Amino acid sequence: MAGPASDTPAAEPHIPVLLEAILKAVAPVQGVWLDGTFGAGGYSRGLLAAGAARVIGIDRDPLAFEMATPWAGAFGDRLILVEGTFSDLDRHAAEAGYPQLDGVVLDLGVSSMQLDLSERGFSFMRDGPLDMRMGRVGPSAEDLVNDAPEGALADILFHYGEERASRRIAKAIVKARTEERISSTLHLAKIVEKCLPRPKPGQSHPATRSFQAIRIAVNDEFGQLVEGLMAAERALAPGGQLAVVTFHSLEDRIAKRFLQDRASFGGGGSRYAPAEAEREPGFILTPRRAIAPDADEIKRNPRARSAKLRVARRTDTPAAAPLADVLGLPRLSEIL
Ligand SMILES: C[S@@+](CC[C@H](N)C(=O)[O-])C[C@H]1O[C@@H](n2cnc3c(N)ncnc32)[C@H](O)[C@@H]1O
Repeated sequence: MAGPASDTPAAEPHIPVLLEAILKAVAPVQGVWLDGTFGAGGYSRGLLAAGAARVIGIDRDPLAFEMATPWAGAFGDRLILVEGTFSDLDRHAAEAGYPQLDGVVLDLGVSSMQLDLSERGFSFMRDGPLDMRMGRVGPSAEDLVNDAPEGALADILFHYGEERASRRIAKAIVKARTEERISSTLHLAKIVEKCLPRPKPGQSHPATRSFQAIRIAVNDEFGQLVEGLMAAERALAPGGQLAVVTFHSLEDRIAKRFLQDRASFGGGGSRYAPAEAEREPGFILTPRRAIAPDADEIKRNPRARSAKLRVARRTDTPAAAPLADVLGLPRLSEIL
């Protein structure tokens, strides 16, 4: 629970990214949809306005629902709100009375509201407690940064942030925490900054990659995504649609590989790879490639810059077995 905001979110809390592109790709919108990342409710409202009979809105952050109080009631029982994670979206949908869905949308990452509240600890630009949890459970970034072994920290920075100076930064964190507990965002940002060259004009802040990596680890974002995609596969009715919006290459790679795996026919094999058991595709990619925002959208909403949308339609093939190596997820040692 975020508690009373010490810093008010911006007047326009969150401009939905690629919403028009989603609605166009999945048209006509009908039946029961699940919005696994409710946030400011932009997608849920868009889906309801476009013709969805009902939307189940899930978010792990209870603040999202507090922010929706002024408008959500107007939709009556067409909008069902659930505090939870999208990794269990099939269970949440069944508990709401809809074990079969006509559509699932996921808009990954943090919302502008979360980023803008310094007390949530996501931003290296504002001082705040080193928290970074989207929900209210589990270890915080402060726990991770102060308690994780140096090797695990370096792995996180390298694999989740693609930070080439991961070992140097992990070492500096461990040295700093022996002197004083690292409990604020700016304290961590300064430690990282000291390990890296001064950014050239136009380059991102040196702490960007480290903060991304720690946020991903704290919220188990990749685990959530893999589980969420498989849960969507189980819950979608034949013909149901899945739309996933990602914001960086690591996330997009997981969505892409999952959908490519499910959309391929298996079978044949090649000279080098053994033949897989024959299997029918569980999804059809619609379209085959990711959709990116156009220049207009990026101008209106710079946050859309790195976004990618992937859309797929469920077939009537039963959900496949869980994935193991196909996604190429980094294997990290136990963190805490
Ligand atoms: C980018 S925002 C979504 C914005 C939304 N599409 C809109 O238009 O207002 C992401 C939201 O998803 C939530 N979230 C992220 N990962 C989640 C997960 N695994 N389960 C449930 N909610 C999650 C975050 O708390 C945040 O509120």
